[in-house]
Amino acid sequence: MTLSLTIRRPDDWHLHLRDGAILHSVLPETARHFERAIIMPNLVPPVVTAAQAAAYKSRIMDALPRGMSFTPLMTLYLTEETDPNDVAAAHADGLINAVKLYPAGATTNSASGVTNFNKVRGTLEKMAEIDLPLCVHGEVTDPDVDIFDREAVFIDRVLDPIRRATPGLRVVMEHITTSNGVEYALSQGSDLAATITTHHLVINRNHILVGGIKPHYYCLPVAKREEHRLALRRAAVSGDKSFFLGTDSAPHTDPNKESACGCAGCFTATNTMSILAHVFEEEGALEQLEAFASLNGPAFYGLPVNETKLTLTKGEATNYPDKIDTPDGPVTVFDPGFPLYWNVT
Ligand code: NCD
Ligand code: ZN
Repeated sequence: MTLSLTIRRPDDWHLHLRDGAILHSVLPETARHFERAIIMPNLVPPVVTAAQAAAYKSRIMDALPRGMSFTPLMTLYLTEETDPNDVAAAHADGLINAVKLYPAGATTNSASGVTNFNKVRGTLEKMAEIDLPLCVHGEVTDPDVDIFDREAVFIDRVLDPIRRATPGLRVVMEHITTSNGVEYALSQGSDLAATITTHHLVINRNHILVGGIKPHYYCLPVAKREEHRLALRRAAVSGDKSFFLGTDSAPHTDPNKESACGCAGCFTATNTMSILAHVFEEEGALEQLEAFASLNGPAFYGLPVNETKLTLTKGEATNYPDKIDTPDGPVTVFDPGFPLYWNVT
């Protein structure tokens, strides 16, 4: 029997496209299946001003192959020098859909992030006033906090205080990796949402460390214990409006991953929809895939849902490439560790 599932075309609410030559190679991998994506601003140098976001958006559109339809939803990288009026103007022009908060040093290219949260208070208050969402990389960077605890500690020490101090600010906890993140999202109102990646629904920390170190499973926030993966799965398939897809697809070339100091990031753009269909079927919740990938995100961001459709069909095992070639070198596609039978048709 052929099983088939048609959903509204999905969006990716957290994506790294990079810049320059590699952008041309990774963009089609997303645009093939996704209509829109929230574009992360952690370039070198970061996208901190409206002018930089406008220029980056044009470079993305220039890199889009003819015949493909894709809309990049731009973000600004929040720094202690961010000008609230520049943010408000970019929002009023329809140029940006969110501002991104990286605690300084938390992840790839986050050196310009925030250390003193009092210095960004004015921008956060302006964002609450104009109803512009804040996307948050939710990990503390205190060296005394164990890397596996950094998300839970961030919620208590940073996120909850920021939200209490800034009523009305709408926040996306990005790429949550713990049951603490799930519980916090569920305990709050509709001004808080959380994205979940594809890979955190598939791997736990054993996948990274048991039987030899697997650099292509290393990302930030790092995958946690199995109980956390199961909590993320329950949240993703629940249909609850607080949870939606943000792949955090983050390409790094193989030499940069397979190194004595390997970069963090899993590249999942290529096979995400097949993996998600597999996961949702395994959870007996295929009917919730559309809410997770195509409905809950636009509802939170106040955008219309996509009118075009995407069909997944279950059949023979599909063969995705192990790697994609880029001018900077090969980039390994995330290996879920099981065969994929769901094909995007
Ligand atoms: C991201 C990257 O490579 O830019 N890496 C990652 O492990 N997710 C940065 C980020 O989102 O933390
Ligand atoms: Zn990311």
